[in-house]
Amino acid sequence: MTILITGATGNVGYEVAKGLPGARIAARDPERARAQLGDAYDYVPFDFMQPWTFTPALSGVERLFLIRPPQIVQTQAIEALIEAAQAAGVSQIVFLSLIGVEQRRYVPHYRIEALIRSSGIPATMLRAGFFMQNLNTTHRDEIRDQHQLAIPAGQSRTAFIDVRDIAKVAIRALTEPGHADKTYDLTGSEALSYTEIATILSEVLGTPIRYTNPSIWQFVRDQRTFGRPWPFTIVMTLLYTLTRFGMAAQIAPDTERLLGRAPITFRQYAQDYKRCWI
Ligand SMILES: NC(=O)c1ccc[n+]([C@@H]2O[C@H](COP(=O)([O-])OP(=O)(O)OC[C@H]3O[C@@H](n4cnc5c(N)ncnc54)[C@H](OP(=O)(O)O)[C@@H]3O)[C@@H](O)[C@H]2O)c1
Repeated sequence: MTILITGATGNVGYEVAKGLPGARIAARDPERARAQLGDAYDYVPFDFMQPWTFTPALSGVERLFLIRPPQIVQTQAIEALIEAAQAAGVSQIVFLSLIGVEQRRYVPHYRIEALIRSSGIPATMLRAGFFMQNLNTTHRDEIRDQHQLAIPAGQSRTAFIDVRDIAKVAIRALTEPGHADKTYDLTGSEALSYTEIATILSEVLGTPIRYTNPSIWQFVRDQRTFGRPWPFTIVMTLLYTLTRFGMAAQIAPDTERLLGRAPITFRQYAQDYKRCWI
């Protein structure tokens, strides 16, 4: 069975690819992807912004792991990809979506889910909560260099999930029967405040990490000062404003049910990624 993986050089796709040697990797720069993942894969050139790359990449593909790269705000490119998948006879799409998407018509994932459903291709929607790995990517520098977490989330809680667990669920959905036309809400099994996150990071790193809890406006100013572009700043501000109002706190049982074990805890994640902050 040929499985095509998009986003394989990113957080989730990389973990999915690691668990599926022999899969086909759709990459903007196949040689860079090969340097990251090794020779156990079939690499094809693929760019969401270059629709002529879709049909060759999808030739003979039965299952597609689809992510929407954060940079892609307009969904036309993804619509064209879904049409190409339909034409190529893809039998299942596993889409990395967003928890709570059903109530957020303004996020691209809402429209992408609708496009997939209306294509008639059987699909599995993985509606993921906040990634733990945001702390070793987006927030890595402030933790490592300033020993702080400057996130405007108040005392709200977040049911973080480790992307390695999302990938494990994705791999099951891509390789086993029974996951078509299913929607899974993927979170960890604990909802932590950023004060608790800072405490765990302090203990694991052996150095105090402060949660500064800036106002929303201070956060916007800080992001601009760090040189973050406006679209990124707006999305982050929106996400943390929703978090502040308790929208990221809900724990869903699907991850544990699908994995047959407890999800990775934040402490375990912090220990595994410790090298990122030192
Ligand atoms: N962060 C969170 O807490 C969270 C929670 C729930 C859902 N999500 C969703 O998860 C998705 C992001 O997943 P992620 O964090 O795994 O992604 P990521 O680490 O940001 O990686 C993006 C991937 O997309 C590829 N890509 C970017 N532009 C491309 C293009 N034009 N054509 C082909 N490939 C392209 C990148 O490849 P290159 O190496 O070529 O750049 C990379 O492999 C988003 O839809 C986000 O909304 C995120």
